[in-house]
Amino acid sequence: MLRLYALGAGFVCISLAIFVQGLLPIAIPESRETRATRAVRNEAGEVKWVWYESTPYTAVEQLGRDVYRREGCWYCHSQYVRPVAGEDQRWGPVSEVGEYAHDWPHLLSTRRIGPDLTRVGLKFSDHWHFAHHWAPRAVVPDSIMPEFRWLYRRARVAVIERDGAVALGDSRELKALFSFERGASIPLYPSPDGIAFAARTDGAPVLEIASLPEPYDRADAWKGKTLTVIVPTAELRGLVAYTQKLGTNRGAWRDAFEPQAIAVSVMSIPQTEAQVERGRVVYARRCAGCHGVKGDGNGPVATFLDPRPRNFTLGSFKFRTTPSGSLPTDGDLYRTLARGVRWTAMPTWHELPEKDRIAAIAYVKTFSARWKDERPEPAIPIGEPPKPTRELLTRGQALYARAKCGECHGDGGKGDGPSAAQLRDDSKFPIRPTDFTRGQFKGGGDVRDLYRTMTTGLDGTPMPSFADSMSDDERWAISAYVLSLSAFRDPLTGEELRLDERARARLNVLEPDAFASPRLALDPTAPPGVAEQPKTMVRFHKGMLGEGR
Ligand code: HEC
Ligand code: HEC
Ligand code: HEC
Repeated sequence: MLRLYALGAGFVCISLAIFVQGLLPIAIPESRETRATRAVRNEAGEVKWVWYESTPYTAVEQLGRDVYRREGCWYCHSQYVRPVAGEDQRWGPVSEVGEYAHDWPHLLSTRRIGPDLTRVGLKFSDHWHFAHHWAPRAVVPDSIMPEFRWLYRRARVAVIERDGAVALGDSRELKALFSFERGASIPLYPSPDGIAFAARTDGAPVLEIASLPEPYDRADAWKGKTLTVIVPTAELRGLVAYTQKLGTNRGAWRDAFEPQAIAVSVMSIPQTEAQVERGRVVYARRCAGCHGVKGDGNGPVATFLDPRPRNFTLGSFKFRTTPSGSLPTDGDLYRTLARGVRWTAMPTWHELPEKDRIAAIAYVKTFSARWKDERPEPAIPIGEPPKPTRELLTRGQALYARAKCGECHGDGGKGDGPSAAQLRDDSKFPIRPTDFTRGQFKGGGDVRDLYRTMTTGLDGTPMPSFADSMSDDERWAISAYVLSLSAFRDPLTGEELRLDERARARLNVLEPDAFASPRLALDPTAPPGVAEQPKTMVRFHKGMLGEGR
């Protein structure tokens, strides 16, 4: 009898669970939502929020998703930003139902042995992921993430001498990895421990050592050695494409993400012995995998990265408020650390305690004698930007044509100008001009950041300073124009969003508070008049980005 009761109770409990967690959600209309609020840049360069259809996975991303399932990435990684405990200050905007519209089956997961991955898309470059799956602890020394080395193909190749220079020897294994197409050469920059990574395989691999820091720029460092050349498999490419897609249904949210939003900061960091000592520890733990123990930009995973990690012994920095050729201010370095360098391997360090960041900067400044012999020149003043009117943008467009920015960046700003393929940085590593249509700016996505770049240039790269060749007004106008090239586009693909004229006009309004958060997102499908009314969202919390918290 007792057994019958137990069976009955069990049946009731299970039915209840199936009803509450399985059937009831289907009955709630919001659970069928296929749209999510998306951050878009408008023509004035401001970040606004709009309800927009979530996009399905491409074939390559879907392959990656299958690999993600198969490899059990979800044992350790959740994909859900919860509306509690300040998670929106750590990962980004709280998850919405519509983001998961194309997730069959869900990979939400509950375990968080590793970080949540909902917002990891576009956080790092593909190259960061290639390095991380090969050697997690070389990239993040405390990591307990396993290596996924079976997602790479490799070949062992002897280094030989040919025509008086070192070159890759003949190897059947190598022939199987690359297409050896004529005319297309793929440079290999081996790491000190003999690993050479190539992201592409559609060409002939060529050993290039001349741009490496010493002693690795000399033939005798390599002669007689054997290299391990590695390339990603199609599965790994898919996995990385899938990772980059995660969270991008929410668009350019990172450009309005408060913890990383740090403008110019004026600070000066005391170069005391204790500070430098602390910095040495932080650096060894967080930075050396990429930048190298000696600060020469040749750490164990540097071979994976393009752009390469900065060589601090050169004392040349890209992101400065100081004039072309000058050292950066401490505030500049602090800003770079807090924000990271978008879409490169250089991570954002907004979660690293402030004292550690400051100490790391003090330590970075010990690598080059420039810091002893010179002082940074005074920072350029960055005033208030002019009102972003249509006239300003038209003027910027004319300047863009006149100044021949298209030579490198392409007439449409896609980074595909006639000289784009040949560009090299001061260390002779290949460098690509920025694709403006993605709106992923290394120096920051505010018009003031672009103005700063236009005024100071990016030292060590072909991107010059326009402080002398353009007036102040002109630099503001061209900055506004460059920013507008990513207006209403998807940061992942660079493609234009399907938003009609009316929606665009509404999103272009010059009111700072309009559509300024997910909660206030514009609903383009609502009839005029109602469109400005916020749509109620399925969530238990007021919003993100500091508002209501
Ligand atoms: C045993 C648990 C574990 C497994 C399995 C695992 N990871 Fe991780 N992962 C971690 C930990 C811990 C970290 C944090 C340290 C680090 O970045 O390496 C991490 C970090 C990451 C990051 C960086 C996130 C960020 O915001 O910094 C990505 C991306 C990632 N993992 C992807 C994957 C993928 C893809 C797989 C499956 C192929 C996977 N992980 C499998 C534990 C795991
Ligand atoms: C996963 C690799 C990686 C790690 C870890 C890393 N960096 Fe970087 N870092 C890079 C890359 C790549 C660049 C070059 C970006 C570029 O040139 O566009 C860079 C650039 C820089 C720059 C140059 C900015 C400028 O103005 O030119 C500084 C400063 C810097 N990193 C500091 C640090 C510090 C400090 C740490 C540790 C707390 C660190 N990095 C950790 C990859 C890394
Ligand atoms: C000789 C080639 C060349 C010319 C000409 C050139 N650029 Fe660049 N520019 C580059 C390269 C290369 C980079 C990327 C540097 C990097 O990634 O470190 C760049 C970067 C930039 C960036 C920084 C983007 C970011 O990520 O923060 C802006 C803005 C920019 N260019 C605007 C312009 C404008 C506007 C003009 C014309 C007035 C122009 N550039 C002319 C080569 C050029």
